[in-house]
Amino acid sequence: MSASIQVEHFSFWYGRRQVLHDICMDIRPGEITALIGPSGCGKTTLLRNLNRLNDLVDDIRHEGDIRVDGGSIFDPGLEVISLRKRVGMVFQKYNPFPMSIYENVAFPLRVAGQKDKAALDEVVERSLRGAFLWDEVRDRLHEGAPGLSGGQQQRLCIARAIANRPQILLMDEPCASLDPVATLRIEELMHELRREFTLVIVTHNMEQARRVADRTAFFYLGRLVECRPTLELFLTPEDARTEAYVRGRIC
Ligand SMILES: Nc1ncnc2c1ncn2[C@@H]1O[C@H](COP(=O)(O)OP(=O)(O)OP(=O)(O)O)[C@@H](O)[C@H]1O
Ligand SMILES: [Mg+2]
Repeated sequence: MSASIQVEHFSFWYGRRQVLHDICMDIRPGEITALIGPSGCGKTTLLRNLNRLNDLVDDIRHEGDIRVDGGSIFDPGLEVISLRKRVGMVFQKYNPFPMSIYENVAFPLRVAGQKDKAALDEVVERSLRGAFLWDEVRDRLHEGAPGLSGGQQQRLCIARAIANRPQILLMDEPCASLDPVATLRIEELMHELRREFTLVIVTHNMEQARRVADRTAFFYLGRLVECRPTLELFLTPEDARTEAYVRGRIC
């Protein structure tokens, strides 16, 4: 089941440098939300906060709150591991583990203590089907993942990210290392995944945002300028900075 995310007056600092300023945003369940904006405007920083991946960085600080289905992700009683199960992530540079295709997908379940082979088989097949990869790899599940093409490796990473059935899937420029054909494949996949998960994607490719996102949020210098239904944002931007960006005048 997909989940909503509320970002409430969220500000964020690396050391003394503030990189996000008072972000307020509602991310709706079952939708694809695209985060766009010039390099360095804070898209990755916001995305990495949604599953508290920034906790791994030293000397960080935030103000405000982020809620997933109503519950604060900063609640001291919340276990970060359980949050990351609910909020999966896929990175720009696909990063399969140096093990077989099967073990890559089974890995999160093994870590969670699942030993039953039939249960693992079932999840591996379901996840690979969910990532549109099953037909291409069903005969080579026990071969090494690094032997796959780039687009296949990225779909494998998506299969691994959905194996634990998260509610939310975060994708940081998931197609940036892929060719146009592999990119279209991932975009089709996003449309399918949206039935089951809330998707938040960062993209530099405005055509991609237009093709896949229900809503698009434009960030500039650490501030959210506007977040609106995608076509409205592209066709009738409210803010002059959004207009300049979507027309290619700021990059
Ligand atoms: N680990 C870090 N420590 C210190 N500063 C950081 C760190 N990561 C990012 N920053 C800074 O925070 C700001 C926002 O970076 P972020 O990576 O979120 O931008 P972005 O919008 O994702 O950019 P890009 O489109 O280039 O990926 C930048 O000024 C960046 O230099
Ligand atoms: Mg980034």
